[in-house]
Parts: sequence; structure tokens; C-alpha cells
Amino acid sequence: MAKKKIVVLTGAGMSAESGLKTFRDANGLWEGHDVMQVASPEGFANDPELVLEFYNQRRRQLLEVAPNKGHHDLAAMETDFDVHIITQNVDNLHEQAGSSKVLHLHGELLKVRSTENENDIRYWEKDLIVGDVDQNGHQLRPHIVWFGEMVPQLDNAIAITKKAEVLLIIGTSMQVYPAASLIHYVRMGTPIYFIDPKSKVGASDFPNLQIISKTASEGVSEVIRMLQKT
Ligand code: OAD
Repeated sequence: MAKKKIVVLTGAGMSAESGLKTFRDANGLWEGHDVMQVASPEGFANDPELVLEFYNQRRRQLLEVAPNKGHHDLAAMETDFDVHIITQNVDNLHEQAGSSKVLHLHGELLKVRSTENENDIRYWEKDLIVGDVDQNGHQLRPHIVWFGEMVPQLDNAIAITKKAEVLLIIGTSMQVYPAASLIHYVRMGTPIYFIDPKSKVGASDFPNLQIISKTASEGVSEVIRMLQKT
């Protein structure tokens, strides 16, 4: 029998228990930064050093943390389910935990690309500085989808979401589009579980939505128990 298809949309709250800050919680990443200065093409053109240092800090931090129980439990779900993860996160903690199908909507911290050729993408662990260039002398930039830029993986994410038999949303404020719009692409009647201690999505808008007001690791265990009963 084919395994049930579980689509999981994750946000920064997924990695909070690993020690990575979310963006919009109190003391979150955006509290100390002007978003447009560090996460937009205009910001990069205006002050590349500032932008590169912001992502260098994120990259250094990522190299010091590890996946949490929630990441590991999602990876282990592949034994019983066909699990597709669509993440807004730029860390690689889902992959580190062993998840095999991970789509990054907003790019990846451990990759950089040429400012001239978006297909020239390299794996990158060290700091990226002004003067790090491709073979034609063009500056390299973080492989991150900034505000105002296209989301190249969106169509793939929509196609995956349309086939979901269960949608699991974890640790996202659902403030950033188009990622937040994915919830609208599930087939009618598809069960949706939303794990977030402070979920802001109205249950009344989605008749099949169940809110689980817990952390990612606690909530994933609970959803696994529920899915095993169905
Ligand atoms: P946000 O910071 O907007 O939201 C984080 C969510 O995680 C909130 O709803 C919190 O309640 C929840 N949360 C906090 N701790 C949690 C925990 N331990 N377990 C589960 N949930 C927890 O982050 P995102 O929704 O991911 O984009 O933000 C979306 C995008 O905005 C990011 O991908 C980033 C940002 O600008 C780019 O940089 C392109």
C-alpha cells in the first residue's frame, strides 16, 4: 500500500529549540535589524558588508547547533509516511536530521551564488566577504531569497502541497507571502495540523484545521500519535 503523503511546512519556530532565533518573536532577529537593510537587493547594493556580515553570523551560528527532537521525529516519520518538507528556513537542520525530501523556499545559508549567474551556486561554510568572486570576477552573494525577489521553488511547493493527504504546519507566523499562501492549496477536506505555541491562524477560516499550541518537538510527537490512530 502506498504510504500516506504528509506535507510539512516549517518556519523559524522549528529550529528554535536548536537555539536559532526566530524572526518576529520578542528578541527575534528582526528586532535588532532593519529587514530591508539586510534582506533585500537594495540593502545589498547599498551596504554589502553589512548584509554579508548578517548572513556570516547566521552561518557561524548554524555550524554550532544541531537538529532538535522535532527534526529527528519528522525524519523518522519517513518509515511510515511519504514525508515532504517545505521549509522557509535557510538552515539545513532537516537534512542533518535525515529528512530526504526537503524543499527550501527561501534559500540556504550554506550556499552562495554568483551575482551575475544565478545558476552558479556553491556550497559555502566560511565567511563570505566583499571580494569573494566567481571565475569571471563577479561578487558572490548569499543563496537567500530576499524581500522583493522571486521565489523560484514556489511552483514546486504548490504542486507538492496540492497532493498532501495531511498538511502539518510548524513554527511559522504565516506573515510572509507567498509561503503563507500554501495553506490554500490543499484539497478540500485535507486535515491540517498547526503546531505553534502562539499560532495566529484562525481555526474558523479552515474547518479541518487543528491548532496544537505546543513547541515543535512536543507537537510533532503529538501529531505522530494522532496519525498512528487514523
Ligand atoms: P517568524 O519569526 O515570523 O515566526 C516564528 C514562529 O515560530 C512564531 O509564530 C512563534 O510563535 C513560533 N515559535 C517560537 N518558538 C517555537 C517553538 N519552540 N516551537 C514551535 N514554534 C515556535 O518566522 P517565520 O514564520 O519562519 O524569510 O518567518 C518567515 C520568513 O520571514 C523567514 O523565512 C524569513 C523571514 O523574513 C527571509 O529571510 C526571506
